[in-house]
Amino acid sequence: MADIISTLTRPDEAIAAALPLLQAGQCLAIPTETVYGLAADATNPEAIARIYETKGRPRFNPLICHMADLAMAERHAVFDPLSRKLAERFWPGPLTLILPLRPESSIHSLATAGLDSVGIRIPKGLTGRLIAAFGRPLAAPSANRSGRISPTSAAHVAADLGERIALVLDGGAAPVGVESTILKVEDGAIRMLRPGGLAAEDIEAATGCTVIRPQKAGAIIEAPGMLASHYAPDAAVRLNATHVEPGEALVTFAGFAPAGIEKAALVLDLSPAGNLAEAAANLFSFMKLADASGAPRIAFAAIPMSGLGEAINDRLQRAAAPKT
Ligand code: TXA
Ligand code: MG
Repeated sequence: MADIISTLTRPDEAIAAALPLLQAGQCLAIPTETVYGLAADATNPEAIARIYETKGRPRFNPLICHMADLAMAERHAVFDPLSRKLAERFWPGPLTLILPLRPESSIHSLATAGLDSVGIRIPKGLTGRLIAAFGRPLAAPSANRSGRISPTSAAHVAADLGERIALVLDGGAAPVGVESTILKVEDGAIRMLRPGGLAAEDIEAATGCTVIRPQKAGAIIEAPGMLASHYAPDAAVRLNATHVEPGEALVTFAGFAPAGIEKAALVLDLSPAGNLAEAAANLFSFMKLADASGAPRIAFAAIPMSGLGEAINDRLQRAAAPKT
């Protein structure tokens, strides 16, 4: 079973335990503000292969490469002025930028799936310090088995992957709770490849540019990790529920009480106050709780599409998609 070390109370010990594993090409779980990542040396092909093997993930997905700071990012990717502005404004934070890979970058093609671009992000907290101490970028998808719900706590990671990895760094509950927003700047326009923990409204306010939303078919080619079924609980999922069927688990929002709520096996409210950031932070852990209740189906009340509601609705649609 994996060791769990708190980055909040034992930060130096956490880094001291993580560094030799990374140097040896092992993967370990790291906290980030969005979700926990399964991290390994992005320049070491065996290490990257271990990520795919540990997750049981199909090989064709490029991975996000996590950097310590902008200087490290600039050594691996070419920044146009608008991407640099986004980086300066939102890093460290829940933003991934797709950028042209520098030919001299040491990032291995297994991490980029052979693309000539790379997805880069700088996470908040101790993970940035760990990457700086390691001196190389860390490739890290979410620290869950392929197709399962992304982990927002060290306990989630340990339950899903604890038998397969040596170390989980525990940074507490992930404050954002959904994966980073993925953007790609093209010809001075900002395209959103994946809605996530940074709201489109905030990007538009900071840049004065309109964020171009993913076109369903194009998005799959552009961001190959965006498989329709993803983030899937074992239970069936029903969206925009306006009533509850007997025995269903209900996940609601802002105190909404649909008809039949008294027959629900379990009732969870993502944010009784109607706060979408709080709802995003609770989304995956409530999905897991509802799933663990043993209810055959989870009914989700409608969530508004503004702000982080866009990312929440994206993840709910994936959770409800037929499993492949
Ligand atoms: O919040 C997050 O982004 C989390 C934490 C751990 O950082 N990471 C995460 O990684 O969600 P992952 O591997 O689950 O998602 C990577 C996404 C995929 O949809 C992939 O297709 C896209 O990023 N991606 C990565 N590199 C890309 C590239 N060069 N071009 C297009 N899409 C890329
Ligand atoms: Mg994932």
